[in-house]
Amino acid sequence: MTTESAGHRIDLDNVSQEFHARGTTSGFMTAVDGVSFTLTSEAAQVVSLVGQSGSGKSTIARIILGLQKPSAGEVTYDGKDIYRLSRSGSNDYRRQVQPVFQDPYAIFNPVYRVDRVLWKAAHKFGVANSRAAAEERIEESLTAVRLDPKQVLGRYPHQLSGGQRQRIMLARVHLLRPAFIIADEPVSMLDAQVRKSFLDILLDFGEKYRMTTLFITHDLSTVSYLGGEMMVITNGKVVESGSVHTVMAEPSHPYTRLLLDSVPRPDPDQRWTDRITVDDKGDQILIDQPLID
Ligand SMILES: Nc1ncnc2c1ncn2[C@@H]1O[C@H](COP(=O)(O)OP(=O)(O)OP(=O)(O)O)[C@@H](O)[C@H]1O
Ligand SMILES: [Mg+2]
Repeated sequence: MTTESAGHRIDLDNVSQEFHARGTTSGFMTAVDGVSFTLTSEAAQVVSLVGQSGSGKSTIARIILGLQKPSAGEVTYDGKDIYRLSRSGSNDYRRQVQPVFQDPYAIFNPVYRVDRVLWKAAHKFGVANSRAAAEERIEESLTAVRLDPKQVLGRYPHQLSGGQRQRIMLARVHLLRPAFIIADEPVSMLDAQVRKSFLDILLDFGEKYRMTTLFITHDLSTVSYLGGEMMVITNGKVVESGSVHTVMAEPSHPYTRLLLDSVPRPDPDQRWTDRITVDDKGDQILIDQPLID
């Protein structure tokens, strides 16, 4: 269960992305500019990618997910260019690298019931060998993200709250147990309490199933809560990276200092102690502190 996701790596090597842009002298703008970094799933980790609007974060996410072929540079999965993978290599990549996006409503087709995303994933990636077994796995995954299967199965997207829709996407992650989660601003539309429970579930998944998350955000208090590593991006360039603790305590790049000065300074030593844990039985919900107050 956990071993299949152990030991994969994604390397970005000097990745750049240019887009046509009207009104510029060259006719192009550089959205991502020579970015290199590695994500490994050997040890579960959270790597936050932080930067202001337009800095290139989502473009990097799309490039890793294979939705956007970079203009230059290479993305490799276990050493192989993701655009030159064999069919089975490509299937493996698509299973092991799962997205969670900002607006889960946009992911769901409004005419289908929400559980369709779970059934489709179960079917596509063969997570169970019978319908009954798949149903069991789906119910288990919903419970793991603190959704009551009886309440959400059979509902349409508009009948769920934003937080519930986002947790369906987490249930999908639980079902597939990928090595990597590419999360692009997954909590920016959620209120503080729902945000915190989402982050706690994500952290628990990381620990339990050894998933590594690339967490894209512009919110430093979320980065501080998640801990782990961070990269700071501006104008398509990663200008600073390191442990969240070190970068926040001693930012070396002027842009990082600016970013830190522009928000109430989160204290990296002050991790919340009341984290809720995901136990497989799904009882005990402890959400009593807002993430940001
Ligand atoms: N398909 C595209 N065509 C042209 N320009 C694009 C395209 N996608 C992104 N851009 C431009 O590239 C730059 C980086 O965009 P990107 O979406 O990666 O930023 P971001 O850091 O995710 O911003 P935000 O925090 O607002 O989501 C922006 O200037 C954007 O306008
Ligand atoms: Mg974005």
